[in-house]
Amino acid sequence: MKDLISMADLSLEDIREILDLAAEIKEKRSQGKIIDHLRNKSLGMIFEKSSTRTRVSFEVGMNDLGGHAIYLNANDIQIGRGETVEDTAKVLSRYLHGIIARVYSHETLVKLGANASIPVINALSDEEHPCQILADLLTIKEYKNRISDMKFVWVGDGNNVCNSIMLACAIVGMEIVVVCPKGYEPDEKYVIKTKELGGVLTITDKPLEAAKNADVLYTDVWVSMGDEAEEEKRLKDFAGFQINEELIAVSKPDVIVMHCLPAHRGLEISAGAIDGPHSVVFDQAENRLHAQKAVLLKLLAGE
Ligand code: CP
Ligand code: NVA
Repeated sequence: MKDLISMADLSLEDIREILDLAAEIKEKRSQGKIIDHLRNKSLGMIFEKSSTRTRVSFEVGMNDLGGHAIYLNANDIQIGRGETVEDTAKVLSRYLHGIIARVYSHETLVKLGANASIPVINALSDEEHPCQILADLLTIKEYKNRISDMKFVWVGDGNNVCNSIMLACAIVGMEIVVVCPKGYEPDEKYVIKTKELGGVLTITDKPLEAAKNADVLYTDVWVSMGDEAEEEKRLKDFAGFQINEELIAVSKPDVIVMHCLPAHRGLEISAGAIDGPHSVVFDQAENRLHAQKAVLLKLLAGE
């Protein structure tokens, strides 16, 4: 495995290895122990869109591992002035040991991966967000002591995070229910892929029914980066597709409430749900650091 572009690039075995390594790295960091296996290695971080968690956790992660990260705003490098993705990938491969990229079009990542001789990691595209989902699986494992045999309920937009979650649920063996307004269902390509991977997937527009006996309730923004022009319509269409106390009440008593963040209290999630006892959102955010360090060690150091 050279790149991590889609969640489907990972086998169950890969996911297990990454989560075990991430847990070990997390434990060692809490004891102040240093794992600097990426000494003298450099990571390029191309960003076409905003980021708090992804940018900071990758930069800190590389630093923790003894390496160096270079933030490359897409507008500041020549790609912003028309240099091709292919040439950029070839040039960066002569300097760096890995590239992460947050892009509007998933195709850009595919081209980067095909033309770079170094690992390329998806830091979010319009189609997927696999690094987020690895941190989420680590969080689920910490709270539930397992990553399979659960009911995972996605509430809201059938977007990039949802696509990667559907694939992940299929790979690890979790039932996945996607609840979204009509017209916002996940891309058919990902529905087919999820089923091909053996996923048990239901798509519905009835939040209360779907949330019954959920082990995990997960949501994301109603207006993703790139969807801003549709904001007004989306806010109307998504009304009623909120994770709140009503949904928590019909879920399992030990349900965990997840959100990849950034969150909008009162829209996709109520303040009571995100700030209440079931919420694990800040553990998810922290686990971005540990899970991505495991990915970096696997891809850049072959661990
Ligand atoms: N969840 C996530 O990817 O956050 P950022 O957009 O802040 O990186
Ligand atoms: N779906 C969101 C995720 C942000 C981390 C977006 O693409 O903007």
